[in-house]
Amino acid sequence: MLITPDISTLSYKRQLAKRFDRASRSYDSYADFQKIVLDRLLAMLPLNQADVVLDLGTGTGQALGILSEQLNPICNIALDLSSQMLTVASERYSALQNTHYICADAEQLPLQDKSCDLVFSSLAIQWCLTPLVLFKELYRVTKPGGYVVFSTLSQGSMPEISKAWFGLDNKEHVHQYMASGALLDCVKASELNLVSSQLSDIPMWFDSPESAIYSLKKVGASLISADGDQSTSPSKWKAFLQEYEKQRNECGVPLSYQVSFVVAQRPISI
Ligand SMILES: C[S@@+](CC[C@H](N)C(=O)[O-])C[C@H]1O[C@@H](n2cnc3c(N)ncnc32)[C@H](O)[C@@H]1O
Repeated sequence: MLITPDISTLSYKRQLAKRFDRASRSYDSYADFQKIVLDRLLAMLPLNQADVVLDLGTGTGQALGILSEQLNPICNIALDLSSQMLTVASERYSALQNTHYICADAEQLPLQDKSCDLVFSSLAIQWCLTPLVLFKELYRVTKPGGYVVFSTLSQGSMPEISKAWFGLDNKEHVHQYMASGALLDCVKASELNLVSSQLSDIPMWFDSPESAIYSLKKVGASLISADGDQSTSPSKWKAFLQEYEKQRNECGVPLSYQVSFVVAQRPISI
């Protein structure tokens, strides 16, 4: 979840959808970090059967096959803001009969109250603008006794990029993700019960600063700036790459993430 940028929600969501549309065909080839997080989140599933499963921010649908195999649902809902991501997911899973693809916003779900046994979401909700609205929506669509299981980026992600830009210009080059404590407060405020949570530091390694930045772009995770302006002069870009290169160590050029893994449950009695 982001600390709200100063642009209208609609224009922000449109830009976000476009950016993920553009990344839809390259995503799977560059999503090494996303696959690591997804595998860890899948290992935390608290159920072995669920009738209705929502994969929120499904992207190219990397989780859909495994959720289907493990939980044997009657109905899978693959939901994403990006229609192109959904196209890739539906091509991949054309054989999954019981899957519905819905292009919608996580903060305004077109789903009935108490309709899902499991809301699953890996590395999608950090793009939402209003965490309380989001978690109230997740609470609303979850059945009493059902689960909300998610991973999201937290404060302190990609410090290498902030460090390399430091002093070069006055722009924000990394999103200000929510601190994990504040995130968990929002989960509790939505009346979901917190079952478990972990905050993990996950470092990734690249052979050059360029390939680290390229990997972000190819999965749609580069920054949308507050004023929509992403221009950087060639000389500043060069200076940034030189600063980033200085952080290389024996493993390569680092890009590290703080990831919150959370399992929450809607109480049975409400
Ligand atoms: C990093 S990808 C993760 C995809 C998939 N969950 C995975 O683990 O591979 C993030 C996805 O979240 C979607 N997304 C971002 N904000 C969203 C929102 N507000 N509502 C629905 N989907 C959203 C993006 O379009 C993108 O497909």
